[in-house]
Amino acid sequence: MPSLSSRIRAINGGGSDGWDVFHRARAMIEAGEAVTELTIGEHDTPTDHIILDAMHAAARAGHTGYAAVPGIPALRDAVAARVTRHTGIATGRDNVLITPGGQAALYAAQLACCNPGDRALFIEPYYATYPGTIRAAGAVPKGITTRAADGFLPDYNVVSDAALAHGAASLLVNSPNNPTGAVYPRATLEGIAAAAQDHDLWVISDEVYDTQVWQGTHLSPRALPVWSSARLSSAPCPRATQ
Ligand SMILES: Cc1ncc(COP(=O)(O)O)c(C=O)c1O
Repeated sequence: MPSLSSRIRAINGGGSDGWDVFHRARAMIEAGEAVTELTIGEHDTPTDHIILDAMHAAARAGHTGYAAVPGIPALRDAVAARVTRHTGIATGRDNVLITPGGQAALYAAQLACCNPGDRALFIEPYYATYPGTIRAAGAVPKGITTRAADGFLPDYNVVSDAALAHGAASLLVNSPNNPTGAVYPRATLEGIAAAAQDHDLWVISDEVYDTQVWQGTHLSPRALPVWSSARLSSAPCPRATQ
């Protein structure tokens, strides 16, 4: 029997994959155990009927075939307008690519930023599928530890040390963060940006929860003036855009 490719076999790194945690938590809840689930971003409210009605109307109107590969132009324009509004950085249709979910956007971004075997940094604690996404793209995941005592915030030194130690090509950041809830303040983002510039790192920003902020203000790394001459890939989730 032929064997699966090394890329597929390497995705979970020989251990469990992110979904194992989720399935185990669900099984424990069903067994009556008290579990606080910090896994997927599944809302506890149903999808608004305005969205369901619009989807139904669009399908009835004949929009059931292939869409343009980078996304429907009107949708890309709407996402670009939202990013411009949120960051103050002029963003156009050509800067926007629609993907089937946030995970696919992160995979595409790692593919674009890393060559096979490149080191890709991410911040711990992390959304459980991050290392698998990086491995799937052919890169090698390297976590950067953050601690509760520091509010789970990375600073210039830890990012810089990790970039140097691993010769990394990319850094994935997630603010507002799943699972810690940390919302990175400007100073944290500036430290990350400075380290990224010093070590020529791509910054991939997962902002899937940018509307889920109850304390503090969400700031996108894309909004920092420091990037005007630097490399940045910001990946807002299509689900979170209007
Ligand atoms: C931080 C984070 N990024 C990405 C995703 C994946 O997004 P999607 O389900 O749109 O692929 C999730 C899902 O829970 C998440 O929590």
